Amino acid sequence: KRPAGAPDPKLARPVTKVGVVGAGLMAGQFALLFARQLKVPVVMTDIDAARVDKGVGYVHGEVDKLLAKGRISQDAANRTKALVTGSVSKQAFADADFVIEAVFEELNVKKAVFAEVEAIVSPECILATNTSSLSVTAMAEDLVHPERVVGFHFFNPVAVMPLLEIVRAPNTDDAVLATAFATAKTLRKTAVLVKDATAFVVNRVLLRLMAEVSRAFDEGTDAAVADKALRPMGLPMTPFTLLAMVGLPVAQHVTESMHATFGDRVAVSANIQALIDGGKKGLWATAADGSQFIP
Ligand code: CAA
Repeated sequence: KRPAGAPDPKLARPVTKVGVVGAGLMAGQFALLFARQLKVPVVMTDIDAARVDKGVGYVHGEVDKLLAKGRISQDAANRTKALVTGSVSKQAFADADFVIEAVFEELNVKKAVFAEVEAIVSPECILATNTSSLSVTAMAEDLVHPERVVGFHFFNPVAVMPLLEIVRAPNTDDAVLATAFATAKTLRKTAVLVKDATAFVVNRVLLRLMAEVSRAFDEGTDAAVADKALRPMGLPMTPFTLLAMVGLPVAQHVTESMHATFGDRVAVSANIQALIDGGKKGLWATAADGSQFIP
């Protein structure tokens, strides 16, 4: 059955090579997924060789873990690893037909990346963004071909979260959208079309909960008590555990975007900002089995 709002799947174009801008944790997770499920070459880029090597190394390491668990064969592991390569130059995207960015959550950074990539790729190459909260419309507006831009928003951890939010900007053309839906299907994700509104649907709700708990923490609520109190509410992860997994800076950026749109409905936590400024990755987090995983 065709997802609501998805165009005719016959309009979808083949994806034969994927480019990933940014080689961080989120990018590494979906580079692995593209290589495993689409079975096409995936090239990752970043601002320096160390970051690129780390990103590609992460993907290869995850393939080794799957092999060790007996989830994939030695042949599939070798093939997947060979498909994922890195480059410091975006020229490596010249023959890509689907480029997705996962760089810093800042509109001007993402716009600059798209402008740079547009000068390298073919006019039909799709430019997808994994933004969590920024305007996809704004990201497309200065491009020569704004119709090629689409939001393609994964959730953490990418390997297990089934959902993908697909975002249509006013100029996104039907073939681009159809290709995004077809790609999501091959990746075995459940794609939903969402409006291009701040934080889309999932983060608008989820990050508001996390922002509210963080404000309670600012006002003196013990974080451990808040997490313990919320566990029986049926959340798969309690708020501070989720904050640590998403990453404090990413969560704070999404919260700031939401605050700009929703005002007092979403407050930005001073205590979380202080943790970020102090270089902390999280407060602490306790997994369901009681193990602590934040340094
Ligand atoms: N990477 C890969 N696989 C992972 C993983 C990871 N980081 N974490 C867990 N898994 C896998 C495990 O290997 C396991 O797979 P198998 O059964 O095949 O062995 C499976 O997931 C289940 O894991 P566990 O049994 O250890 O743990 P669990 O039952 O507690 O489930 C979870 C883990 C699915 C992550 C669950 O805790 C959950 O759903 N958490 C909520 C996650 C969430 O809300 N994500 C959205 C974050 S917001 C976001 O990402 C948007 C943004 O833009 C900021």
